[in-house]
Amino acid sequence: MTNSASPRTKIAVFASGAGSNARKLMEYFNSNTPASQEKGIEVALVVSNKIDAGVLQIAAEYQVPTLIIDKEKFFRGNAYVDELKQTGISFIVLAGFLWKVPAALIQAFSGSIVNIHPALLPKYGGKGMYGNFVHESVIANKEPESGITIHVVDEVYDNGVHLFQATCPVFPDDTAATLAQRIHKLEHEHYPRVVEETIKAKR
Ligand code: GAR
Repeated sequence: MTNSASPRTKIAVFASGAGSNARKLMEYFNSNTPASQEKGIEVALVVSNKIDAGVLQIAAEYQVPTLIIDKEKFFRGNAYVDELKQTGISFIVLAGFLWKVPAALIQAFSGSIVNIHPALLPKYGGKGMYGNFVHESVIANKEPESGITIHVVDEVYDNGVHLFQATCPVFPDDTAATLAQRIHKLEHEHYPRVVEETIKAKR
């Protein structure tokens, strides 16, 4: 249990899209319930590269500040390291964030950036492998199962140490949409808890 004297660990959630995983993270860490408060972790910032990303609405619902990032500054500037540090962020969670994370950010938050990938890495990872492209490839290859991988982010796409994997079946009549639904269910069930455990293991 965290007492009121110890500050909560501040995390930033980076997302480019609808934000269903970001919602689960905010629900888990930022709800006004004793169970949520006692975790001692809060989503303190939502970062997006898209001005119209659904995740921004969700952040507003939870009264979490947002930051829209600029491509030039992200890739050729300081990758917003100063802004993140000034906000007190000590851990970054990627939740459907589609830009590659620059080396400057990875070095500043070494071992403290995690990602969720909608397949069983090392298969179906790498550049261009996101969202429905992943599910379409899995279906085209007639894989009997797919799943999720939660991993530490390093400088190579989808390459870092695996923290957790879970599997689900792929059915012959699956479309990218039906498989995505099954994968999202797994993501929502596991991502917040794995993030919590990873942060607590680092304390
Ligand atoms: C999630 O399924 C996540 O695994 C995937 O994008 C989706 C975002 O959904 N990420 C990638 O494909 C990264 N390579 P959400 O916006 O509803 O959380």
